[in-house]
Amino acid sequence: SGKFFVGGNWKCNGTKDSISKLVTELNAATLEPDVDVVVAPPFIYIDQVKNSLTDRIEVSAQNVWIGKGGAYTGEISAEQLVDIGCQWVILGHSERRHIIGEDDQFIGKKAAYALSQNVKVIACIGELLEEREAGKTFDVCFKQMKAFADSITNWADVVIAYEPVWAIGTGKVATPEQAQEVHAAVRDWLKTNVSPEVASSIRIIYGGSVNAANCAELAKKEDIDGFLVGGASLKGPDFATIINSVT
Ligand code: 13P
Repeated sequence: SGKFFVGGNWKCNGTKDSISKLVTELNAATLEPDVDVVVAPPFIYIDQVKNSLTDRIEVSAQNVWIGKGGAYTGEISAEQLVDIGCQWVILGHSERRHIIGEDDQFIGKKAAYALSQNVKVIACIGELLEEREAGKTFDVCFKQMKAFADSITNWADVVIAYEPVWAIGTGKVATPEQAQEVHAAVRDWLKTNVSPEVASSIRIIYGGSVNAANCAELAKKEDIDGFLVGGASLKGPDFATIINSVT
């Protein structure tokens, strides 16, 4: 539902030179018009990317502070993102949940504050391998969704990214059926717990080892509205192929 959405999460990768090369590739790529495209460089390169990348592609941060800026050493505020023209932020990524230790409530509050400043949110959810194997995939995803829903009112500026942790950076992509099953369940959860309108209009995108070879099969599934891409988003031509997998 909604316009196909493809995000590139560059994570903690890149140099001024490698990013300049990637931007040149993206500027040269032919992209399907009916797709929203967003890339998320590390904070310190956002300005470089904003100033060199075609306006066809929007720019996202990978994190943001929970509230208004001030005495918070090392943090970046939503107001500062707006100041440099950055309109998106990725929140709740599994690397921030499981490596850095951000919890559901903290992430939910970050989302609410970012939205209050008109920064749009890519809200990530997803289960660990042991949770999937224990049959807890839906429980985990719904719990993460509830924390977002407890804080978010403006769902029009939210994209949900389902990223099973076992598929991230592992080369073990979810099957189209596995992804579709969770996307449909999350949409159903939204219908019951938020509203039928939000459930039907929101984009639910898939992330985890998406590449130029496996994107087309995934894109065919009814409830897969796009992708959040890590490794393959660092290669311009591969990222373009994924964008152009829109059905
Ligand atoms: P990979 O595409 O490298 O598996 O990463 C997915 C991801 O975490 C995007 O946010």
